[in-house]
Amino acid sequence: MPISTMTELKPSLYASVDEVETPALLVDLDTMEANIQDYASFATENDVRLRSHIKTHKNAEIAHLQNEYSGGGGIVCQTLGEAEVMAKNGIHDIYLSYQVVGRPKLERLVWLAQKLDRFTTTVDGPGNIAPLQTVAADHYVTIDVILEVDVGLHRTGVPLGESALQMARLIQEQSHLNFCGLLAYEAHVKSKAETRTEYERYCTEAMDRTQETVELLEAEGIPVEEVKVGGTATSKYSGEHPAVTEINPGMYPFMDVGELEHRPFDVDKDDCAATIISTVISKPTADRAVVDAGSKTLSMDKPQLPVPKYREDITYVNASEEHGWLDTSDSEKSVDVGDRIEFIVPHVCATINLHDTIVGVRDGRVEELWDVQARGKVK
Ligand SMILES: Cc1ncc(COP(=O)(O)O)c(C=O)c1O
Repeated sequence: MPISTMTELKPSLYASVDEVETPALLVDLDTMEANIQDYASFATENDVRLRSHIKTHKNAEIAHLQNEYSGGGGIVCQTLGEAEVMAKNGIHDIYLSYQVVGRPKLERLVWLAQKLDRFTTTVDGPGNIAPLQTVAADHYVTIDVILEVDVGLHRTGVPLGESALQMARLIQEQSHLNFCGLLAYEAHVKSKAETRTEYERYCTEAMDRTQETVELLEAEGIPVEEVKVGGTATSKYSGEHPAVTEINPGMYPFMDVGELEHRPFDVDKDDCAATIISTVISKPTADRAVVDAGSKTLSMDKPQLPVPKYREDITYVNASEEHGWLDTSDSEKSVDVGDRIEFIVPHVCATINLHDTIVGVRDGRVEELWDVQARGKVK
């Protein structure tokens, strides 16, 4: 006979953060709003559109908030499923920064494009251009497309120069596709730049090469209305370049240990809005404590480990699924079973994806409970 239990109680609104059951994903709302304002101000000052990537939080209310701050710049999604969730929740201007392949998905894409005020998708070769044209033509719809160019990440994207020109021509020849411009995602810069000067240099270099391709296309009579770039680390450098019309950062409302490590000159602990609140469940030895936040709570898909937000004297050293090992050998204050410890997350996108709820906190009280609505929408 099954019994019903009260396993997953959501925190109560206005409850003290100290009462939130752990482990839980917290977002400090003042910090998040300051980060959103910071990128929105940058966009205004540099006359670029801020179109936020919502793959990080997968929640429509935060997307609406970002849209308000950016003056209606629209959003970016990485999966069609995310885009469907956002559309269902009232977002009407979506760019899908991903190549969609396969007839059933293309049918969904075309259907969605018809419902929205503006929908744009991404292509980078004949294998994803031709099927999109076929489905669009079958449904008498014209789809706005962006051509992804490879500016150094060597993931998706056609090489700059002559190859990009050929592909832009191919798109122009399609009766039901409308060429809008380029996606030049410059995330490779993160792995080679160590200083602000290097970020500036590598982003400028990637955008100079992109601009040459824009000029090549325009000389051939192909207008390039949009040049979109990523991401939290690079977009404030690339966004200063005259070639760029739009920045697509994702992690910037929250930040994480990755951003802290990559750009200590731009980001500090106080900028990190997303944390995991955990509880010490065991203190087996003087130099070791164990918290209830392991790799099923804090994603470990990147090399970084969680960093305590408010304590310099303890270190998160290892994780199993439900356990986090802390080295307390240098701890000045005692660490006891029942203590609550807050960690900045190693990789915020993958961490939010592990949770059902984002707990928004202001002045120590729970002010928002956001569902991670597009969690699991990988199709
Ligand atoms: C194409 C594209 N644009 C923008 C972003 C956002 O970058 P970030 O999460 O570094 O802000 C991503 C993230 O993966 C991306 O793939």
